[in-house]
Amino acid sequence: METPQKTLWGGRFSTSLSTETVTFTQSVEADARLIGYDIWGSQAHAIMLARQGIISDDELREILRWLQKAAEDFRNGKLTLDANKEDVHMNVESYLIENAGREFGGKLHTARSRNDQVLVDAHLYIREEILNVQRGLAALCDAFLKIAEEHTETVMPGYTHTQHAQPISLGFWATAYVSMFLRDNKRLQAAYALASTNPLGACALAGTTFPIDRHLTTKLLGFDSPHEHALDVISSRDFIAETLFALSLVMANLSRISEEIVYWTTYEFGMAVLDDAYSFGSSIMPQKKNPDIAELTRGRTGRVYGALFDLLTNLKGLPMGYNRDFQEDKPPLWEAFDIVKACLGVLPGLLATTDFRAERMAELANANFATATELANYLVTEHDISFRECHEIVGWLVGELVKQDKTFADWEATQGLLKQKDVDISVAQLQQVLDAELAIRNNRSLGGTSPDEVHRMREAFEEQLNEIALQVYTRQTQIDDARRETLRTVEEVLKQD
Ligand code: ARG
Repeated sequence: METPQKTLWGGRFSTSLSTETVTFTQSVEADARLIGYDIWGSQAHAIMLARQGIISDDELREILRWLQKAAEDFRNGKLTLDANKEDVHMNVESYLIENAGREFGGKLHTARSRNDQVLVDAHLYIREEILNVQRGLAALCDAFLKIAEEHTETVMPGYTHTQHAQPISLGFWATAYVSMFLRDNKRLQAAYALASTNPLGACALAGTTFPIDRHLTTKLLGFDSPHEHALDVISSRDFIAETLFALSLVMANLSRISEEIVYWTTYEFGMAVLDDAYSFGSSIMPQKKNPDIAELTRGRTGRVYGALFDLLTNLKGLPMGYNRDFQEDKPPLWEAFDIVKACLGVLPGLLATTDFRAERMAELANANFATATELANYLVTEHDISFRECHEIVGWLVGELVKQDKTFADWEATQGLLKQKDVDISVAQLQQVLDAELAIRNNRSLGGTSPDEVHRMREAFEEQLNEIALQVYTRQTQIDDARRETLRTVEEVLKQD
């Protein structure tokens, strides 16, 4: 780092900053990923200033020329962000002043503050990243829907308390994840809407005396509307909190599928086998095949929660207006997006290539009295006994069989024990009632395990995913169109040279 020079805001100060002060306060590393958005925001602002007669056409041209050059120089490495210049905003403005001179470059910051500028950058960044996460989630849902399509009749044990509960199908299980991730998507859509309001023109906190047009910058930046209240928007970081909360729940849900992958692939469970391309070995134990991707996803969840709590704690008790504390909102946000996108980058492929062991699943679903509820339900329907009494009878039956080290499949014993409770039932009938495959077929209630219901839900989810894809596309188009319109205006202005 070079020795600190006088800053652009240094008018009232008699000495330059100490090196420690510069090091402590600068944010150029975190800001680097905002430069494209910062320049876009500045282009829109400058165009608006000229349209409103606040700056001249000549001034606009010089500003736009050097903003273009700044973007280009950043891309080719000639412009690197200097910590002495504090943040991305001051770096770009200094570049402009150094190259276009103060009489031109010095006009860009008219009717603007870094307070609304940094918010513009964050809003633009979040908007695009949310769309990326939504695409990742859609890919994951597709992988689950594919599993569902192939496995509406593949029985597996359904669990409560991680103990056998009732049989379900693998397709039923897979569609449950889709149902869950569709809710994550809703939260992301809502977070997007919060980020799609335009802070530009709020200035430091109070608006401005200049006759600015906030609708024009809103259009040029592809926002849905101006964020009206200047003081509110300057003080707001709840749109980031909302985003981090949505991302935290995505991770919570990814950690749950990860957990299932971890134990389904154990020797003890043996319900799934990972493809070699998604597995890891051990440096000492030659036989190992480990589910590291699932473990790392589970393990990174805490870092995303950490990001949320970091921000929530940052916001607590902050007075209205801009507070420098806000600068700390960016690193956790970057981290959260990076982690979620990385997990969503790998999990769809992992799921699509996983070999689900239908035979083992069926074996487990038919063992360990997993169909006991079916027997109780059967007695209610066919023997006109109250459910509570049936529960008692079947519970007693299971207890007796366990004592004798037997299962339902010791049909004669099961039949004999039931007879002791005055329940007459043939072995053939018992075999039917206690068959896991028939059991899942008979749960025809809305949202139940029957293949028809799974099929119906799968189709409904597919439709919802199509709607989401359309919305993501529309929003992306709104962003791209706005960026293109800004660039077209920039080119037009530059042509008039
Ligand atoms: N680097 C600052 C941030 O990220 C930009 C805004 C600075 N504004 C100010 N008044 N110091 O929050």
